[in-house]
Parts: sequence; structure tokens; C-alpha cells
Amino acid sequence: MTGESLLSVRGLEAWYGRAHILAGVDLEVRPGEVLALMGRNGAGKSTTLKAIMGLVAQRRGTIRFAGHDLTGLPTHRIARLGVGYVPEDRRVFTDLTVRENLEVGRQPPRPGVPAWTPERLCDLFPNLAELRGRRGGHMSGGEQQMLTLARTLMGNPALLLLDEPSEGLAPRIVQQMAAAVRTLKAQGLSVLLSEQNLAFAGAVADRAVVIEKGCSRWTGSMAALAEDEAARRAWLAL
Ligand SMILES: Nc1ncnc2c1ncn2[C@@H]1O[C@H](COP(=O)(O)OP(=O)(O)O)[C@@H](O)[C@H]1O
Ligand SMILES: [Mg+2]
Repeated sequence: MTGESLLSVRGLEAWYGRAHILAGVDLEVRPGEVLALMGRNGAGKSTTLKAIMGLVAQRRGTIRFAGHDLTGLPTHRIARLGVGYVPEDRRVFTDLTVRENLEVGRQPPRPGVPAWTPERLCDLFPNLAELRGRRGGHMSGGEQQMLTLARTLMGNPALLLLDEPSEGLAPRIVQQMAAAVRTLKAQGLSVLLSEQNLAFAGAVADRAVVIEKGCSRWTGSMAALAEDEAARRAWLAL
């Protein structure tokens, strides 16, 4: 492992009741990189992100972020340390407008990472600018997905966990989402995204970790994954 990692996950295991879902996930996110956590449906991608965020009660292993041990910390403390989490199900306040939804996420600026304002977020997501006064409940699924990401950014995270950001989005919105992730990286944010879509991951990520049945199986650059047909056939639905 070269370079200091921002997030380091070692031997992560997780259970739902008696079901052993993660049996050994290892991954590193280096400062300023986009890492794609890939794997088939049911491989454990969402569970990995939830476990990092402290949302899985039964877990084992070590999770270190920016010099802090996250293992055992409650979710709100993890968020306060600078980890933003965008779950796969959209979480917008349906009765609040876009602008009000953004204000709900506002946190103080954090040294060394971009400080977001509704204005800057409207530059990042031109769609949201047009919808500023719209209520969350009157937006399409893709627009709600963007609003959820934008609200998370209002917390000024240093690391963003994105669960399948391209899933179920219209092609035009997928393009905007990919452009937004690239812009976030250019502004210095580090991103861990779960993804099954190799095209989307290839467009935004530097490296990939592929998991199967809750275990890390492969890690390398996106370019290496694109060339490794055997790995793609073995662990991705391709
Ligand atoms: N709340 C839960 N309770 C029990 N089993 C779950 C729960 N959430 C997910 N699982 C199971 O855990 C496994 C991994 O799920 P998940 O992490 O959602 O995979 P992925 O995101 O890669 O599709 C699957 O077999 C799924 O059925
Ligand atoms: Mg998932």
C-alpha cells in the first residue's frame, strides 16, 4: 500500500441477525480518489457502506478514517467527522422545497475541504437551480437522487459514500451524475461509490475493489479491470 489512505477498512465482517453477510472486506480510499466498490447484486456493497457509516449493529474488523477509529462510533459522530452518506433509497423531505431541503443539511465549513452553499450546489447540478422552489415530493426519482446528494454535500464532507448513484436513473441524469462526481473529485473530495454499472464506474473512478459474497476478491485500477475479462466474468455480471 503506497501513500496514506483517508479511509482504511480491514477484515470487515457484518451480520444481519444470524446471517453472516460480510466475511472479509478490505479496501483503502486514498485522499482525492474515487474508488468503485463493485460486485453483483447481493454481494454486500450496500452493507459495506452501511457498516462504515455505523448503520449495521453487528460488525467486526477495523475502519479508520482520517486518523480516527470509526469502529463502534454512532452514525452521527461518523458524519460529524466528515463522512457523507447517500443511501440507495432517496431521502428527501417531500413537503420541503429544494432550497429548504438543502438548508436542512447545512453544517459548518470543514478545514481543507470544499464549503458548499446552495448557490454552489446549483452550479454543480443545473437541474436543481431550475427546481429551487419545487417541493421534494414533486420531483422525479432522478431529481430526488441529486437533491439527496446535494443535501449531503451541505454537510461539507471530506469523504462521500455513494450507494449506486446511477441505479434507476434516466441516461441524461446518469450523465449529470457522472459529471458531478468528476467535479467533486476535482474539488478535492474523496469518494467511495458502490456500483454494478461498469460504464459508470469507468467514467468516474480511479480504482475498483470487487467483492463477492461479502469478501474482497480483486483490486486494481479501472483500466486494469477493463482489461481483465476473467475477473469481470468471475465477479461481475458481465
Ligand atoms: N436488512 C437486512 N436483513 C437481512 N439480510 C439483508 C438485509 N439487507 C441485505 N441483506 C442481505 O445481505 C446480502 C447483501 O446485500 P447488499 O449489501 O444489499 O448487497 P448489494 O448492495 O451488493 O446488492 C444479500 O443477500 C441481502 O439479501
Ligand atoms: Mg446495494
